[in-house]
Amino acid sequence: MEWVYKCYIRFVYDITLMENRPKVAIVGQGYVGLPLAMAAAKSGWTVIGLDIDQRIVKQLNAGVSHVEDISSLELKRALEGGNYMASVKGSLAADVSVCVICVPTPLDSKRLPDTSFLESAIKLVATHLPSTCILISESTSYPGTIREFVIPLLANLREDRGIGMSFASAPERIDPRNEAWGMKNTPRLVSGIDSKSTQKAFDFYQSFCENVIQVSKPEVAEMAKLLENTFRQVNIALVNQLVPLCKELGIDIREVVEAAGSKPYGYMKFFPGAGVGGHCIPIDPLYLLWKARQLGIELPFVKEADEINGAMPDYVGSRLIDLAKPVLGSFLAILGVAYKSGISDIRESPAEDVARFLKSQGFRVLWSDPLVKSFHDYQVLADQKLAGAIVVTAQEGLAVAELAKAGVPILDCTGAFKAVKGVEQL
Ligand SMILES: NC(=O)c1ccc[n+]([C@@H]2O[C@H](COP(=O)([O-])OP(=O)(O)OC[C@H]3O[C@@H](n4cnc5c(N)ncnc54)[C@H](O)[C@@H]3O)[C@@H](O)[C@H]2O)c1
Repeated sequence: MEWVYKCYIRFVYDITLMENRPKVAIVGQGYVGLPLAMAAAKSGWTVIGLDIDQRIVKQLNAGVSHVEDISSLELKRALEGGNYMASVKGSLAADVSVCVICVPTPLDSKRLPDTSFLESAIKLVATHLPSTCILISESTSYPGTIREFVIPLLANLREDRGIGMSFASAPERIDPRNEAWGMKNTPRLVSGIDSKSTQKAFDFYQSFCENVIQVSKPEVAEMAKLLENTFRQVNIALVNQLVPLCKELGIDIREVVEAAGSKPYGYMKFFPGAGVGGHCIPIDPLYLLWKARQLGIELPFVKEADEINGAMPDYVGSRLIDLAKPVLGSFLAILGVAYKSGISDIRESPAEDVARFLKSQGFRVLWSDPLVKSFHDYQVLADQKLAGAIVVTAQEGLAVAELAKAGVPILDCTGAFKAVKGVEQL
């Protein structure tokens, strides 16, 4: 009897606690949304993690994290503490004070902004959100997204046309697997459409982020995010453009970058590779190009950087063929297919284009990556006899040394296997 009473008291305590906690809905529980959900949960928010993917929701509620930066233990703690639950139901956002959108903003088949996820995310919650809440977008998009896209869409879906609601942009800067810079210490840019919105967004982020920076309008925050990633695209392209020249000159491009990097000011190191991958660098500059073109402005520098990096998979594929001189129909392996080290994400990975190129040249493509479960329709590397291999992403556990020892010609695009005898560097 005493046990039942204790359980009842605990239940009442939990409910009271949850009711008193401020509540946030986070739409999209992926690489951006889940870490945000955990950060908010830890700092006292009750978090509803909304996602359209039933499988992800089920998995999250069972305490299994699908994002490398969040451990299942951390997720379980949030679930058990009553600070977090995942759901597909937009109606759970009916009593939140904050709603944050963290859904993908990819490119469509014509390589133009695909805002369909943003649209469906807004539709999921639009009619449920209270008019006192703030709607924030963290999804990377072109300047003007909040004002020209989010607000009119929401207004069309609500009887009150969203009047009284607050809106802000707070672009995410997460760098998966970066242990030095995370949600807490990476400065966060925020701006609302008015001072009330900016203050609400500022208060929300300040509850778990040490450095929240207000900018004058949402378009500045949106544009800053595109500038950050376009800067990377352009600088990587500059170094990639020097790769064939350095090869001709018999110079190691990585040594050049390191040497230039010894200058303590006015220079930043960017390294060459098989191309650029992930949801940011290959995509964000094209959101910028699209927006500029809407206004009749061309950005040739940005366009060329995209072309240079986009041509790298064919270049490194050709280098592998030159190196290995494989006979047609033989097996070539791609080692490391995720878009960066330490993660399982293959979206926009240059490995896909390297594979496509090698296949188009008449070779059979195999792959190996300890963190990746499947890679399009390509067969996984087992004990096939290889004519050559290319390291696209330096994952731990790749059998580079073993293959080199067995005499397989290997081109390393990452610089991580420089010390392995017989491995050629890009
Ligand atoms: N991943 C990164 O490193 C990174 C870094 C900075 C910014 N961003 C930006 O953040 C945004 C989100 O990226 P991500 O990497 O988290 O994507 P993700 O694919 O890892 O996660 C997105 C989640 O949103 C869900 N989703 C899609 N449509 C939905 C809808 N209508 N309603 C509810 N859920 C929906 C998906 O099921 C998925 O679980 C993008 O704009 C991206 O450019 C990503």
